[in-house]
Amino acid sequence: MHATLRIIRDEHSSLSAVLRSIGLLMAESRRHALAPDFRVLRAMLFYIDEFPEKVHHTKETALLFPKIRARSSEAAAVIARLDADHARSHNAVLDLQHDLLALEMLSEAADAPARRERFEKEMETYIAAYLDHMRIEEVEILPLAERALTSADWAELDAEFMRNRDPLTHREGDDAFRPLFKRILMTLPAPLGLGPAFEALQKSYPGGEPARSFWTSTSGDAAQRGTKAVP
Ligand SMILES: [Fe+2]
Ligand SMILES: [Fe+2]
Repeated sequence: MHATLRIIRDEHSSLSAVLRSIGLLMAESRRHALAPDFRVLRAMLFYIDEFPEKVHHTKETALLFPKIRARSSEAAAVIARLDADHARSHNAVLDLQHDLLALEMLSEAADAPARRERFEKEMETYIAAYLDHMRIEEVEILPLAERALTSADWAELDAEFMRNRDPLTHREGDDAFRPLFKRILMTLPAPLGLGPAFEALQKSYPGGEPARSFWTSTSGDAAQRGTKAVP
């Protein structure tokens, strides 16, 4: 498989895992009548803004899509829609980051429950739209690229895609981002993340809290550590 296609699929996998984890975290905190885990959600939205939105989209819009357009008119309308998604999606994640901050800062306000409901609906819409966007790329665009592009196209694309990779799939990322990725990886399900393995480790050491002191849980035990219950 061409490196470009492998990198796109790997980056889609890590992004899907983060998006699905956000949905699960929100559903879990609501089920336990707890406030959402703001620190985790902030880390995940920051990751989405920093890498998939700024790096992954840019590689598709600036490098892959123009090459496909130059070789085939077969999926022109689909590519136009995906480009429009890229442009819209960045503003959407900025709005979500702001709304999450407002939810945290104004947690005592009378409209906090309504604000939270609105945020959860917006987040669900964003997650569903993003998963659909990646599905279309994988089902329609990547197979078309395999049919239409030349060896010279792939050589150029592979070199560019290798230069700029998502640190969540490429573990030797920037050191400055290591704590962020550690935090996210501990929440994500296996095989990408360490979440379930960590939970199993916790169960094996009932009295212990291994390496998770910086981490607030979304499960019921968060209440014992002072997480504020939802009004
Ligand atoms: Fe895309
Ligand atoms: Fe993509």
